[in-house]
Amino acid sequence: MAITDQHKLIAVADPEALARTAADRVLARIAENGDRVAICLTGGSSPRRLYELLATEPYAAKIPWDRVHWFMGDERFVADDDPLSNMGMARRILLDRFAPPSHVHPIPTNVPGPDQSAERYARELKLFYGAEDLDPSRPLFDIVLMGVGPDGHTASLFPGGPAVEETARWVTGVPKAPVEPLVPRVTLTLPALASCREMLFEVAGREKRSILTRLAAGENLPANRAHASGETVWLVDRAALPEEVGGR
Ligand code: 6PG
Repeated sequence: MAITDQHKLIAVADPEALARTAADRVLARIAENGDRVAICLTGGSSPRRLYELLATEPYAAKIPWDRVHWFMGDERFVADDDPLSNMGMARRILLDRFAPPSHVHPIPTNVPGPDQSAERYARELKLFYGAEDLDPSRPLFDIVLMGVGPDGHTASLFPGGPAVEETARWVTGVPKAPVEPLVPRVTLTLPALASCREMLFEVAGREKRSILTRLAAGENLPANRAHASGETVWLVDRAALPEEVGGR
């Protein structure tokens, strides 16, 4: 199973410890790269505390803002200022306070639909990367943050949907999301998300325990199919950790 077999599992006490551990890992990945850094953020509620921490000391001062670029792994197809917008949340809490505007790369939603948005974002990613094809020896991202939904989705890759089977495109539109919020989505695909030095899942709370139990049993769900070309890390708090993998 993904969580225990090939991937690193880090169990922490609670959501606060989880956010601090995640912040330390983000800083460590930035420190490893003395050049231009690319970070792929995620939406949902799980990363909120991490973003708050990165916006405060000692974290904010340790980020070399002039050489870090911020992307988003999936987006709800809503206006930028809609409370549901994933990049909107990251901007309000963190990016608008510190990041140069040209270093923030939102998935565009001011286009006719999710497919056009996906095409545009793929172009932007390829321009940033400097090639049309991903080279396994040169990851697109330094770190990719991920969350897990109650059905085992990650990013906007939903179980049984075509997006999770995509192998050629970097980004794809998801016209209908099967879980709340029921708005169209745009998501990076498994190969694009995989092109990273580290993929970091953040999972907290009792309500995540049943999906982690299914993932630990090896179910073929999107979150079990997502992994990094580098290191894949599952950061899980005590409430979410199933007994099978050390929880109580
Ligand atoms: C989104 C996400 C999604 C999220 C999981 C976990 O846009 O909703 O990117 O994949 O990470 O659903 O969500 P929570 O963090 O809210 O549990």
